[in-house]
Amino acid sequence: MDKLVIEGGRPLSGSIRIHGAKNAALPIMAASLMCEGQVELRNVPCLLDIDVMLGILSRLGCVAVQQGDTIILDTSGANSSHVPEDLMKQMRSSIFLMGPLLARFGEVCIYQPGGCAIGERKIDLHLRGLAALGAKIEENDHQIWCRATRLIGNDIHLDFPSVGATENIMMAAALAEGTTVITNAAREPEIQDLQRFLNMMGANIIGAGTDTITIQGVASLEPCEYEIIPDRIVAGTALIAAAATRGSITVTHSNPAHLTSLIHVLRRSGVQIGTDNDIISVSSNGRPKAVEKIITSPYPSFPTDLQSQVMVLLSLADGLSLMKETVFEGRLRHVDELVRMGADISVDLNTAFIRGVPRLYGATVEATDLRAGAALVIAGLAAHGKTVVEQIHHIDRGYEHIEQMFGRLGGVMRRENTALKQLDLA
Ligand code: UD1
Repeated sequence: MDKLVIEGGRPLSGSIRIHGAKNAALPIMAASLMCEGQVELRNVPCLLDIDVMLGILSRLGCVAVQQGDTIILDTSGANSSHVPEDLMKQMRSSIFLMGPLLARFGEVCIYQPGGCAIGERKIDLHLRGLAALGAKIEENDHQIWCRATRLIGNDIHLDFPSVGATENIMMAAALAEGTTVITNAAREPEIQDLQRFLNMMGANIIGAGTDTITIQGVASLEPCEYEIIPDRIVAGTALIAAAATRGSITVTHSNPAHLTSLIHVLRRSGVQIGTDNDIISVSSNGRPKAVEKIITSPYPSFPTDLQSQVMVLLSLADGLSLMKETVFEGRLRHVDELVRMGADISVDLNTAFIRGVPRLYGATVEATDLRAGAALVIAGLAAHGKTVVEQIHHIDRGYEHIEQMFGRLGGVMRRENTALKQLDLA
């Protein structure tokens, strides 16, 4: 098991390039299955979740060649619609394979993804959407089968603008007969990226980025070359870390328009932000100000995926801030770890009350999920003394070599392998 050892207390400075978006790459890799041939994807991040998706695709019969951040995926040999249980259990995002496999093979079998550290994470909206397109769903305790001899377009209203459900329905509907209209659709930039990719393969989809997406089904899709958008959550994490360490950094190859709500919050906390095309600069030289109230909500509101990181900044702010999490029911588990580092935070249901303290202190803490782990790294960089972050496989799911990213910005941190250390000692 790897862990990160961080010597905190140094302001970050310098410039980094932001890698491609995990949450855009995963559904796009799954959607590649909807054509037969070689799809070339560029700006694909080098992450654990991407490796798992590649593992699933190769077990389904695809051949993948990875060169740096480019993946060439040959989907012509795909011959199975059964997502392997061991890999499905490793990554919830394997549910993105439902729509594409159903569209290509007329059936798909997946395993119940189950709950996870941040909440129950049901998939009822995915299943209802696919059923509305004509799929017959059969579920038991551990498997879910969807079968359809024909998929037929329909009007589908989502009770909640779920990112994954919107994407799964878009993918299945792209090869359905007739027109599908999704209302109350999620509006995240990753959904716009999926629309661009599907349309480049020959699909006929409009409306992504708004709450109504119209998909005119087509008979088949063709392979294409595509470049994934930058990861807005990784860019946001770096900007918050700079603010929390009272540093000044620039991120390049990012998209400021995707981070409007974070930029607004950072400005309210007294941090200076400048943007220019694909560049965002942040500069802070004093104690941050408290931000009265932040509520996480679907895009374009404040993202749940940046909630824990911003909480670190607010825990160092002057005054009382309030953070309400409305997207996932169990996403405040990092609070206990931050309190171990000296933060003054209390929780009432899904709301955290954050009384800023002048400083955090290094401690041994545990990453309970991906973004919580990133938050603890920020806390470690800002804290006085040494912080050890354990269970960092969660962080590796979404950040490409996080120790190198912050190392380039002057952060002092290293990765240690606990097992190797024990061997050394033996
Ligand atoms: C995606 C992102 C994740 C982000 C989340 C919210 C990917 C790979 N992951 O996850 O990083 O935190 O969006 O922005 O893109 N829900 C249901 N039934 C469903 C589907 C969802 O009740 O069928 C609920 C979930 O339990 C959750 C909420 O809706 O409480 C949001 O989930 P959703 O938008 O679907 O998130 P994901 O697509 O899983």
